[in-house]
Amino acid sequence: MKEAEETLLAPNFNLSFASPAYLAFVASPAVPWYLHKRPMRLEVLISHDDIKAKVKELATEISASIPPSDEPIILLGILKGSVHFLSDLSRMLWELGRECQLEFMQVSSWHGTTSSSGVVQIKKDIDCNIEDRNVVIIEDILDTGRTLSHLRELLNTRRPKSLQICALLSKPDAKVVNVECEYIGFQIPNKFVVGYGLDFDERYRNLQYIAVLHQDE
Ligand code: IMP
Ligand code: MG
Repeated sequence: MKEAEETLLAPNFNLSFASPAYLAFVASPAVPWYLHKRPMRLEVLISHDDIKAKVKELATEISASIPPSDEPIILLGILKGSVHFLSDLSRMLWELGRECQLEFMQVSSWHGTTSSSGVVQIKKDIDCNIEDRNVVIIEDILDTGRTLSHLRELLNTRRPKSLQICALLSKPDAKVVNVECEYIGFQIPNKFVVGYGLDFDERYRNLQYIAVLHQDE
């Protein structure tokens, strides 16, 4: 299954970029446009089974940290990378007897090339009032920390009852800004990863696993 998916998503895996076999392959009309660019290779880093086990663990911790109340927990997913994580986590919380309200924000970050400060722009704000509510921000990955640090500061001004952050992945070696993060699924090396919501140029979000994306020269 794993190998089959790798072959499907990176069919030029074993072909050298300049080889006649590769050139014949990309010239084929059946090959999608994006594979004409450069060969890509996916190396599985975290399996779907490991993700499922981690989701259960995190949901149990989140549930234990928020006292039961009449109002559902607000799970605030940061689009688009958190969609699968949020979806699995919310259903696991239901299994644990917790009701959740699903909300979303979308942000884009520009990381300046000449300064260490990044600008985070809100492209879509949350639709509801979070005052006096228990909120958990759900994010795919903590990289430099700029996005989550900005969001935590912004959302705290709206006076939630509690505000926590749950990131599936964290790259400690990429950290630029210190941000308090209550839940981290996996610490990973400072490599570009895709899958389970994470993309490269809007591709690979629907992999069931997390993979390191190698763009071969
Ligand atoms: P931060 O503000 O640098 O922490 O940026 C976090 C955002 O950058 C994440 O929400 C992702 O959208 C994106 N990102 C960071 N690292 C990766 C990666 O390895 N693969 C895909 N997206 C990433
Ligand atoms: Mg993201």
